[in-house]
Formats: sequence, structure tokens, C-alpha cells
Amino acid sequence: MTEIIVQINSKETTYPIIIENESVSDLREKIFQCIGQRNYLAIISEKVEKIYGKQLNFPNKYILKDGENQKNFKNYQKILNTALKMKLDRKSVIIAIGGGVVGDLAGFVSSTYMRGIDFIQVPTTLLACTDSSVGGKTAINTDFGKNLVGTFYQPKAVFINPRFIKTLDNKQFYSGMGEVIKYSFIEKSCKCHEEYNLTNFLNDNLKSIFERDEKVLAKLIHACIKLKKSVVEKDEKENNLRRILNFGHTYGHAIEKINNYKKYSHGEAVIEGINFAFNLAVKKNLIDKNYAFFANDFIKKFNYRPIKKYNLKKITEIMSLDKKADSGKINFVLPTNYSTVDIFEFTKEELFSLFSL
Ligand SMILES: NC(=O)c1ccc[n+]([C@@H]2O[C@H](COP(=O)([O-])OP(=O)(O)OC[C@H]3O[C@@H](n4cnc5c(N)ncnc54)[C@H](O)[C@@H]3O)[C@@H](O)[C@H]2O)c1
Ligand SMILES: [Zn+2]
Repeated sequence: MTEIIVQINSKETTYPIIIENESVSDLREKIFQCIGQRNYLAIISEKVEKIYGKQLNFPNKYILKDGENQKNFKNYQKILNTALKMKLDRKSVIIAIGGGVVGDLAGFVSSTYMRGIDFIQVPTTLLACTDSSVGGKTAINTDFGKNLVGTFYQPKAVFINPRFIKTLDNKQFYSGMGEVIKYSFIEKSCKCHEEYNLTNFLNDNLKSIFERDEKVLAKLIHACIKLKKSVVEKDEKENNLRRILNFGHTYGHAIEKINNYKKYSHGEAVIEGINFAFNLAVKKNLIDKNYAFFANDFIKKFNYRPIKKYNLKKITEIMSLDKKADSGKINFVLPTNYSTVDIFEFTKEELFSLFSL
């Protein structure tokens, strides 16, 4: 596979996302070739270190335990102290190797250490490759909720190797696929110059995707990145267009919250949120039933396990407390046509009356 490079342009900087499937052992050299030899700290997910540690061979490392709850203040502080002990200065670099948890935390550290030092992302989950490593959001969780403290901070470069995806467990793989499926339903609204026709691509390559064929995954990741690039370059700080990336997320976040972020993966919850969005769009006469049937059949091909149906009152209460809710009104991204979405606002009462509660 030849190297694919996507340039992301933000207001402050431009950085490359490099997709290639060369040996994992070449990564360290490749990074320093790109940014010059520097003092560094690699923040590596525990599982990734177990599987790839020897090949990656980054002696200066902080190993982050696995799990969403590790994206916390305590680890933030520990990493800062490690960086200070190692005498990292403003010319040093932080390298994040892992999923979105490592990326978000390492990004937050980088953006605040000495008022900001260079940061490299090596996303190793499908979700991180297609979503969290693009767009410059960094975050940690607090006792009051997820991602409530963070910054917008762009990396110096992102290195993606689809080989990493092979060792993901099924739960994490399908979690990432949830975001990929999301992109297929919002593609036209992303206003990207290229047309990927992701829905067809997914349909035509189902078997290779399930087998995690590196070349097919590389194409898939490339398409998702180009779609996200198109959105975040037009709306870096989520004032408007970027909100469409939340398709399936309003309801999905509530499902995750109700289950304490344990029972269902993020992608599974997003898929349920997409199902809910189609349901709501039909009730509001935004789409005809054929499109909803099509979406339903399409999603079924990925064999997501069914999610327990929750009481709408309970879930609406949670949705209205979400940080993206606007003075009690709940925002939904809803389908309006094939691969096209728009943003709608609902009061709790409107939702109840549509579902005639
Ligand atoms: N910054 C953003 O724009 C953005 C967008 C979406 C999600 N996020 C954040 O991303 C996080 C979720 O990321 P995630 O889904 O990657 O989860 P994760 O980072 O928790 O990784 C999932 C699991 O996979 C393991 N893993 C990683 N790479 C592996 C590999 N190659 N082989 C085997 N195992 C591997 C990890 O160790 C971990 O146990 C959440 O905290 C979410 O808030 C951020
Ligand atoms: Zn998501």
C-alpha cells in the first residue's frame, strides 16, 4: 500500500495525517524523520504496550492503564510530573499511542504543559483512526461528567497504521464501526469535494471489513478522515456544521450514561441513537418510510446486539441534562434525505407528544 497523506488545515496550523501499513517497528524512526530528533514522552495504552511494546520500542514512556475512567485529573497530573522529571522542555514532543482515551488525555497534557508543546497522535483503535484523532479536541473526565475539561489543540502530525486494527477485540472494532456507519448517513451534509458513497462502499466490502483487510480498512479510514476534515475545517469549534458529527449521539450518550458507560460500547450506543433518530425523523415526517427501512436493513448487516428499550421519560430527562442541550431543549441531528442530515431542537413535551406519551 502506498502512503496516503491528508493535510488538515486549522486556523492556527496545518498538519498531515499519514496512513500507511508498513511495519510497526519503523514508526519511531518515521516520526522523528518527520519532526526531527527531540526529547519525547510516549504515552502508551497498556494493552497496546503489551502487544506492540517491543516493536514500538519507545524507551521514554508512560503506560496508561486501560479504561475510560483513566482519562482523569490524577493521571493528567502524574503525566505532567513525569514530563517535568524528564525535563521535557518547550521543544520536546508528546506522542500518544493508543485509542481515544490516550489521545484525549495526552492531547490535554500537551496543550497545557509549558503552555503547549508539540503533540503526535498514533491512533490504534478504529474509533481513534476515523474520529478522535482528527479535529483537535482534547479532554479529561470529571466527577460531574465526561469530557468536561479540555482544549482545542491540533497535533503536529497523525500516523495511522491499519495493521493495529487487527488486534482490536470485536467489541472495540464494532464500536469504531458505529462511527463509520454514522459517517455513511451524514456524508452529503459533510460537504466534502470528493464523493465516497460510503454506504455503497460498506455494502460492497462487508466481508473484507469483517476480516479487517488492511487495504479496505485504509480506504475506509481515509474516507472518514476526509469527511471529518471537510466538516472541522469549516467549523473548527463546533458552532454549527460540526454538530452534524453528533448524529446518533444525543440518544447514544444517554444510553451510555444510564449504563454507567459499562454495558454498551460507544459505537453500539451510537447505533441505537441512529435507530432512534430514524424513528424520530419518520414521526416528524422528515423522511419517507422507505429510507427508514433501508437504514434499518443496512444497520442489521453489522449484527449489533439489540439494546434494551428504555423508558422515554427517563432517557429524555438524561438528554435534557446533556452538555449539548440548549436551555433545556434537546438537539437532535436527524436524517432528511439519503446521507443527508440536519439539526433540530425539541422540547421534552414535543418529544413526548410525538411518541404520544
Ligand atoms: N477528541 C475527540 O474528538 C473524540 C471523538 C470521539 C471519541 N473521543 C473519546 O475517545 C474515547 C474512546 O476511544 P476508543 O474507543 O479508542 O477507546 P479506548 O481508548 O478506551 O480504547 C479501547 C480499548 O482498546 C485497546 N486498544 C487500543 N488499541 C488497540 C489495538 N491496536 N489492539 C488491541 N487493543 C487495543 C485499549 O487499550 C482499550 O482497552 C472516549 O474517551 C471518547 O470521549 C474523543
Ligand atoms: Zn462518537
